[in-house]
Amino acid sequence: MTKPTYYITTPIYYPSDNLHIGHAYCTTIADTLARYHRAKGEDVFFLTGSDEHGLKIQRKAMEQGVTPIEYVDKIIANFKLLWEKLHITNDDFIRTSEARHHKVVQDVLQQIFEQGDIYKKNYEGLYCVPCESYWLDRQVEDGKCPDCGRPVETMQEESYFFKLSKYQDRLLEHIEKNPEFIQPASRRNEMVNFIKQGLEDLCITRTTFDWGVPVPFDEKHVVYVWFDALLNYFTGIGYGADKELFNKFWPANLHLVGKEIVRFHTIIWPIMLMAMGQELPKQVYGHGWLVVEGDKMSKSKGNVIDPLGLIEEFGADSIRYFLLREINLGSDGNFSRDALITRINADLANDLGNLLNRTVSMIDKYHGGVMTNLTSEPLEDVDKDLLEMAKATVANYQTAMDKMEINAAIKDVWALISRTNKYIDETMPWILAKDEAKAARLQLVMYNLAEVLRIVAILVSPFIPTTSPKIYTQLGLAVPSEFLLADATWGGIPTGTKVAKADPIYPRIEVTEAGETVIGNVKKEAPKVATVPKAEEKASGDNGEISIDDFAKIDLRVATVVAAERVPKTDKLLKLLVKIGEEERTIVSGIAEHYEPEALIGRNVIVIANLKPAKLRGIESRGMLLAASDGEGNLVLADAPDIKSGSKVK
Ligand code: MSP
Repeated sequence: MTKPTYYITTPIYYPSDNLHIGHAYCTTIADTLARYHRAKGEDVFFLTGSDEHGLKIQRKAMEQGVTPIEYVDKIIANFKLLWEKLHITNDDFIRTSEARHHKVVQDVLQQIFEQGDIYKKNYEGLYCVPCESYWLDRQVEDGKCPDCGRPVETMQEESYFFKLSKYQDRLLEHIEKNPEFIQPASRRNEMVNFIKQGLEDLCITRTTFDWGVPVPFDEKHVVYVWFDALLNYFTGIGYGADKELFNKFWPANLHLVGKEIVRFHTIIWPIMLMAMGQELPKQVYGHGWLVVEGDKMSKSKGNVIDPLGLIEEFGADSIRYFLLREINLGSDGNFSRDALITRINADLANDLGNLLNRTVSMIDKYHGGVMTNLTSEPLEDVDKDLLEMAKATVANYQTAMDKMEINAAIKDVWALISRTNKYIDETMPWILAKDEAKAARLQLVMYNLAEVLRIVAILVSPFIPTTSPKIYTQLGLAVPSEFLLADATWGGIPTGTKVAKADPIYPRIEVTEAGETVIGNVKKEAPKVATVPKAEEKASGDNGEISIDDFAKIDLRVATVVAAERVPKTDKLLKLLVKIGEEERTIVSGIAEHYEPEALIGRNVIVIANLKPAKLRGIESRGMLLAASDGEGNLVLADAPDIKSGSKVK
């Protein structure tokens, strides 16, 4: 029999910087759902990746004097490290800079162009670079992007447009006929209202930079990042390359995305699919945002939490558990260090950890570690109650998980754990152990305890995947390659199974007055807030020092400015013609707010001469000027007034 399939995706993250706890939250949810569907016996494909193109990345790379691909390569290594440490089980990692993805984007674009859904027109608009989005005049207040609040810039380009408006009615009809398509319902209502205001055709190409997929029918243009990025969901399952894989997994069961990008996934993406003649994904779910101690995370506030630091301090399962338990998927949720520690101590150390520890220690003490499944022994009411609750919990858990109510499912499992701890107090094994006549009853009580723990291990395996094998091992059971829900039925422990030595799986965390955490006997000097280091710090894997050989690779030269002018339609850029010795070259520099072009002519400045060329606003820039920043937004060029042009700076 063929297994049902389940295709789940996360958004592909921008590698403009290292990822923070909010990104880890989204991927943890997706991983949990992927693991749950595997536990149900389904054939799962779980995709995540990186969204690498666009002006923002190109500018970041320029600022650091590296090529865009060099810049993103280092950050992607950190993405992958984070997913590994968090035990994320993605089946593929798609990078939009890969050749396989370029091909998909170009093929799709060509198809839609040929069928007449793409046309060319001159366009001037207000553009937000960080969001890579054009905005209408009426949407922009005080020159600020309505999404992120940062300044927008006027951009003018000849662009290709995609006929969104043509598909508006079909899309509305689809949303209305398929209430599951956009979830939760509040997001669906927002989208329906938005679409009803009227969709404008979408500008899907850019000429102001070149870090993107070239448009196949007009190579001066690159594809708009969102049009490019959404197609990752096709590339990841082999569109155009592996028909069998693609047909097996498309349409996707779930695109899990943050609430602010639901719009792209429920308007642009479905219309792209309609234009391609493809089926639409079954569901787009917009989850809420994680805030920190009640505040939005931001670099300026210094409250951007580094998930790698937290994992190192508390362990991946504890972080996963907190994120999944504490937050309702559709709503915003709060991260606080105090709440994290309280949650770990209460649920993992006390409830689950103690139940396992008490059970294994008692089986060891009373029966030399060996369990017996005494089916002949009559059940008392307290046993029946426990067994019924275990059975009901498996059913309730599945109902909740199928509705993506992850924290409700966790609460169900923990109610069973609490009930089982109470069962120990009610059955009082230490009293039974004193009475020979109660030997069989004691065997039964011990077996019931172990059996609940075995079932719990299966149920929690999607949330805290490294804990389940530890529970199995302590119970003396062989760890399966996959924990399957089909095994969560009563009576799975064979008679004669011998428990291992009791070993606390979640030691309690104490916090000293100085704010240090002590886990077990190990003191961790953790900062109150573990902030995300700058991309370049972690990417280099050291403290940022470079060797003399690294420095020697940089060719610094004195250059004379021979001409300078503003780059039209930008506030920041100057186009300079410089002479390095006898060689003339063009450099585009972001100093227009600090220098009038005329004031630069004849000045001897210092340039990085061997920087890889980059295109800015369609102009090829070959090199970079050195300038010092006073930290308050002012830039002063480094110069060498009396040194001959072309001289090497050492
Ligand atoms: N590259 C696009 C997605 C393209 S998908 C075809 C993008 N990238 S992003 O890196 O800015 O964001 C990726 C995801 O992280 C989004 O779903 C966003 O909602 C999520 N989060 C970013 N900060 C978050 C929190 N503080 N909390 C929860 N999720 C957050 O958008």
